[in-house]
Amino acid sequence: MCGIVGYVGREDAAPFLIEGLRRLEYRGYDSAGIAVSTENGIVVRKSKGRLSALEEKIRGDHMISGNVGIGHTRWATHGEPSDVNAHPQPSASGRFVVVHNGVIDNYLELKNHLIRRGYEFASETDTEVIAHLIERYYNGDMVDALNKLQTRLKGSYSLGVLSADNPGQIAVIRKDSPLILGERGDEKMLASDIPAMLKFTRDFYELGEGEIAILSREGIAFYDSDKEALSKSTFHVDWDMDAAEKGGYEHFMIKEIMEQPRAISDTITPRLDGDKVLFGDFNLTAEDIAGFDKIYITACGSAYHAGIIGKYVIQSLTRKSVDVELASEFRYGDPIISEKTLVIVVSQSGETADSLAALRYAKAKGARVLGVVNVVGSSIAKEADVTLFTNAGPEIAVATTKAYSCQLIIFYLLAVYMAEKIGSVAETERRRLLEEIKALPGKVAKILENKDDVQRFAALHFNARDVFFIGRGMDYGAGLEGSLKLKEISYIHSEAYAAGELKHGTIALIERDSLVVAIAANRRLFDKLISNVMVVKARGACVCGVTWEGNKVIEESCDFALYVPETEDLFAPSLSVITLQLFSYYVASMRGADIDKPRNLAKSVTIE
Ligand code: F6R
Repeated sequence: MCGIVGYVGREDAAPFLIEGLRRLEYRGYDSAGIAVSTENGIVVRKSKGRLSALEEKIRGDHMISGNVGIGHTRWATHGEPSDVNAHPQPSASGRFVVVHNGVIDNYLELKNHLIRRGYEFASETDTEVIAHLIERYYNGDMVDALNKLQTRLKGSYSLGVLSADNPGQIAVIRKDSPLILGERGDEKMLASDIPAMLKFTRDFYELGEGEIAILSREGIAFYDSDKEALSKSTFHVDWDMDAAEKGGYEHFMIKEIMEQPRAISDTITPRLDGDKVLFGDFNLTAEDIAGFDKIYITACGSAYHAGIIGKYVIQSLTRKSVDVELASEFRYGDPIISEKTLVIVVSQSGETADSLAALRYAKAKGARVLGVVNVVGSSIAKEADVTLFTNAGPEIAVATTKAYSCQLIIFYLLAVYMAEKIGSVAETERRRLLEEIKALPGKVAKILENKDDVQRFAALHFNARDVFFIGRGMDYGAGLEGSLKLKEISYIHSEAYAAGELKHGTIALIERDSLVVAIAANRRLFDKLISNVMVVKARGACVCGVTWEGNKVIEESCDFALYVPETEDLFAPSLSVITLQLFSYYVASMRGADIDKPRNLAKSVTIE
């Protein structure tokens, strides 16, 4: 998500830090900051906005001169983009200063614990908790303090820490968030990602899970969580800058597809406490939910497709009536809205003009508006009454993948949360559903491990003229997203149809060798879908079925089968859509398309 750099050497640290951060700009960020150990203690400078704003702030600033420093570009997750929420975050006394990538799942519990002990918080970040805890645990030995810290933190983190007591050192630790280190003579550097250090070295140490390193001019000392010294060897990369920014992948889109297990897990874990869903910020009572006369979901493009799945899940678990509307149409349909209406606006960017207009329309009519947004500090996030964030991290590829997947997760959690409040699902069933949600990151990872199967299928069909996606119920919803992905990045004509609707017209288009992708992940509707498959097969179509592992019967009716792990029917779109994303990606790649920046499209659509 965010970017981290650090430098120890003989040169002025600030230019190294700024140069390193500039190399991480592609990741997306909304504020930046650096901290340097100086003769007068640790000096911190931060600024909301672009790196150039930070550079402007430190130009001619002699206070920030020193040879040891850390820097950060922040993509807001806890608290909106601002100078005070930017990293580095200092501890109460300013003796310790921290940069952090990742999400601390139990930060609220830790924050309350610290507040009860008299700590005051300046920022809204989860990172400030870490700075205070390090100060609390430091007893003259930074390795001990960091080891104690990791027994308290739940979530993902890579940390760079400056301490006024050891001004010649940077301490680092990581869990579930990458961190690499490198050296050039007595200069040492650290970064969250290779591009930041390519000008410095091409040989890197990788910090392992739970490991600690202390960087100083004398060397890099590595420790495990028992404080045993570790010896490490480096790995070498020959990548150019372009490849490095994409983490070695050919396109941002495939990098983002591969990031989905992490993104989904980062969206789930802060919202769960044992078997309870935490939506403290939303804070609905049973009366509120029971009192909703209507729930609308409104959004554009893929976010609208996520809304279609959201409708099925919320309706099914709460038995409340939900309608999904295209945001560009919402206000023209004269929707029936009152103060008892809940309107959910879904948007990755939080800036889509049609979605924002729908939000303002709903608010003006008195509805309660809930945002489901990826970009903290965006217009929709600010204007919604409450916003639930999808912690997908910055999405660079124009075609959304990981943000869409995280939108589905928010809908699942929201549905379970509402169902619990109003008691519309039995307690054992609610727990089973949560277990299924928790298992999704692992299941997505499994599909990604087997991505070669999808690539093989794409290799057979990348020259298709038309592709039809069919499904029933939620499988139809997943098909809509699969079809949009394919057409927007490969430029192949494609349509998604509710399978039962084919016979009412579209089947006229099916001819010998037409490619049909049948999404058959929903057990309840499987037999019905297979009847529709037989109908297109009888017209000569070539059919690929996407279904759950072990459902070999699909091979009797389809020409090709792609399998996804088994899950609860309601959550199956989270798995089948990964296969469809991969299919689109491989087809587009085989056709040599400009995958990350498809023609005529923009990442954020700010016109109506
Ligand atoms: C498709 C895609 C678009 C967006 C749509 C809404 O891959 O990315 O269809 O989903 O433009 O954008 P947001 O979610 O930013 O409101």
